[in-house]
Amino acid sequence: MIRTIDWQDDSVVMLDQKALPEREIYVPCRDYDEVCAAIRDMTIRGAPAIGIAAAMGAALGFLRHGRGSKDHQRETVERVCGELAATRPTAANLFRALERVKERFRKCAEDDFESTAAALKEEAMHMLEEDIKANRVMGRLGCGLVPPGSAVLTHCNAGALATGGYGTALGIVRAAHEAGRNPRVFADETRPLLQGSRLTAWEMVKEGIPVTVITDSAAGSLMASGEVDLVLVGADRIAANGDTANKIGTYPLALLAHEHGIPFYVAAPTSTIDTATSTGKDIPIEERGALEVLTIAGRPTAPAVAKARNPAFDVTPHRLITAIITERGILREPFDRSIVELMENY
Ligand code: MRU
Repeated sequence: MIRTIDWQDDSVVMLDQKALPEREIYVPCRDYDEVCAAIRDMTIRGAPAIGIAAAMGAALGFLRHGRGSKDHQRETVERVCGELAATRPTAANLFRALERVKERFRKCAEDDFESTAAALKEEAMHMLEEDIKANRVMGRLGCGLVPPGSAVLTHCNAGALATGGYGTALGIVRAAHEAGRNPRVFADETRPLLQGSRLTAWEMVKEGIPVTVITDSAAGSLMASGEVDLVLVGADRIAANGDTANKIGTYPLALLAHEHGIPFYVAAPTSTIDTATSTGKDIPIEERGALEVLTIAGRPTAPAVAKARNPAFDVTPHRLITAIITERGILREPFDRSIVELMENY
């Protein structure tokens, strides 16, 4: 199984996603500020993976800087979690993971430094294992939505790399493949950072699942010619009404799918659902640097003085979503009701 992140010898080790598919390099982060930098520069990316990285980063920061009185420990947890929370604004998993670390710290009120550090690491490792388990369950549940021999269009990378392992949207493709349903994947290349062609295609090739890379602008024409059976994407944050933030370019895909009568599915663990965010309008959308748009792999593709806009995510309104697949069930309209019911005992 592809492992995107792990804890080894008191370092957080990540598969460098910036280097794929050319090179498979594992980079160690020896302190939490290196984890912050890795999240920011997208050495690690994908909502669930970012959450796990943040939890491990918080545990690492505590281990390195937390030794001292309980007050000092508390200040350290607050400071480290604050810095990790400031890395990327959109993925709900990041904030939920840090809340869990803080909650675990509160439960360690009577413990010494060593046991507290061990508890925070255990919490982070638990999140990693939980995420893999959730993805496998989602795979089992979602598999039934992938008819035998169908062509699945996906955007960005919602695979093992973007999670603890196995993947959300690509986990469902994997499960369908394992069940002998012979799915085929169309991977949008996903400008500007090409997560679709670099990462999704890499994962599918490794798995032996047929994959065809297309430019983002080819999706509509393929749908019009009947070559796409369903669209399956991940999510960075799902609001209480079902509006879903995902990689920029997801919203136009949902509109196209609607126009062509093709089901549009979102797959995400419940850690991506944020009922404190009422609608998509309330989801903070990260705007990244202009250079990502004005260059490809470091080479200029526009005049250097040109301006660029680079919103990293967009919001798909819930009315365009056929179903949301979670590890606790498949949700359908009315999403405001099905989401609240699902999350009541979360
Ligand atoms: O900017 P990224 O690469 O972190 O964006 C990732 C996505 O938009 C994914 O589709 C989403 O996080 C789901 S990952 C299971």
